Amino acid sequence: MKSIILAGGVGSRLFPLSREYYPKQFIKFKAFEKSLFQLTFERTLKLSNIKDIYIITNEKHKFLVLGQIEELGYNFNEDNILIEPIGKNTLPAIYYGVKVIKERDGEDTVAVFPSDHLIEDGAKFTKTVKEGVKLTNNYLITFGIKPNKPHTGYGYIKPGEKLDVGYKVEEFKEKPDFETAKKYIKNGYLWNSGMFLFRTDIFEEEVRKHCPEVYEAFKEEDINEVYKKVPDISIDYGIMEKTDRVAVIPLNIKWSDLGSFDAIYDVFDKDENGNIIYGENVVLNSKNNLIYTHSGKLASLIGVKDLIVVDTKDTLLICNKGDSQKVKDVVKNLKEKG
Ligand code: GDD
Ligand code: MG
Repeated sequence: MKSIILAGGVGSRLFPLSREYYPKQFIKFKAFEKSLFQLTFERTLKLSNIKDIYIITNEKHKFLVLGQIEELGYNFNEDNILIEPIGKNTLPAIYYGVKVIKERDGEDTVAVFPSDHLIEDGAKFTKTVKEGVKLTNNYLITFGIKPNKPHTGYGYIKPGEKLDVGYKVEEFKEKPDFETAKKYIKNGYLWNSGMFLFRTDIFEEEVRKHCPEVYEAFKEEDINEVYKKVPDISIDYGIMEKTDRVAVIPLNIKWSDLGSFDAIYDVFDKDENGNIIYGENVVLNSKNNLIYTHSGKLASLIGVKDLIVVDTKDTLLICNKGDSQKVKDVVKNLKEKG
């Protein structure tokens, strides 16, 4: 099996920890000493030989990718790092990988992994993905996570007819609004984990059918020309919402897209007062805060609760817990100001 690792996103909701040059998948969280990208790479090695792993990223992050793999003790073939001239979201990124795999080795089965997830690793994950291969002759496979709240940043999947393993998908809806998400949870929808498995020929056929602009753009010889033409679109909106050839396999493991500081707060261990504080600190009568300070600065807290404070060299972020999805608006605002 071939694998594609997507490592081209910026993760703007983790600003100021993530920066354009240091996106969230490369940040080393103190709790597990590896980056999400490194953890993804190690997981992928359980499914594909190193020579069959393709990483789709951009010029700026190529050396982070190589460096972080080297740190794990592996030697990675640079030819398997595909560089996008500009990011056009996940559909072009995945299709780029698929085209190169086909050109080099012919049709094959491909698994796609985002590099921004924290997954409870282990045998179950590998086994579930491998089981998916039973369905690849007929379907594009998604992996579904049991939701625990009406999160609006995920795709939602309605399982239908039971299959050999998993279910045929009745409906796929990317990033619904809050009310719709609440309804979906009541009706047994699953979250899309963002990982996919498919046969290259079936995937290509679905791209041709549902996103002909993407299909046509990739006929250009020069990758710069391809990316000039290709629309900015995710695989979720471009393919998964449209095709009726999707199946879902429930993945019963701990899973988190560490996309926001609230998600980080949810995942990591808290002290007896519900605080997560990285770095030296004095805490008086304070509860349920997430505090990160840069290079050993002392954090002192008095009587505060439900705050997120991230203090880096040049930027201080203060926000209420529950609002951290909006951090991306700060980044947008900064970009607009230039
Ligand atoms: N190479 C490349 N180029 N990678 C990209 C690009 C790009 O232009 N854009 C995003 N990525 C990478 C990100 O780094 C991440 O690893 C992965 O692709 C997914 O992109 P996100 O931008 O994080 O997507 P999302 O989290 O909003 O939504 C997706 O994941 C959710 C689960 O985490 C969707 O698949 C949802 O349906 C899903 O629920
Ligand atoms: Mg994500």
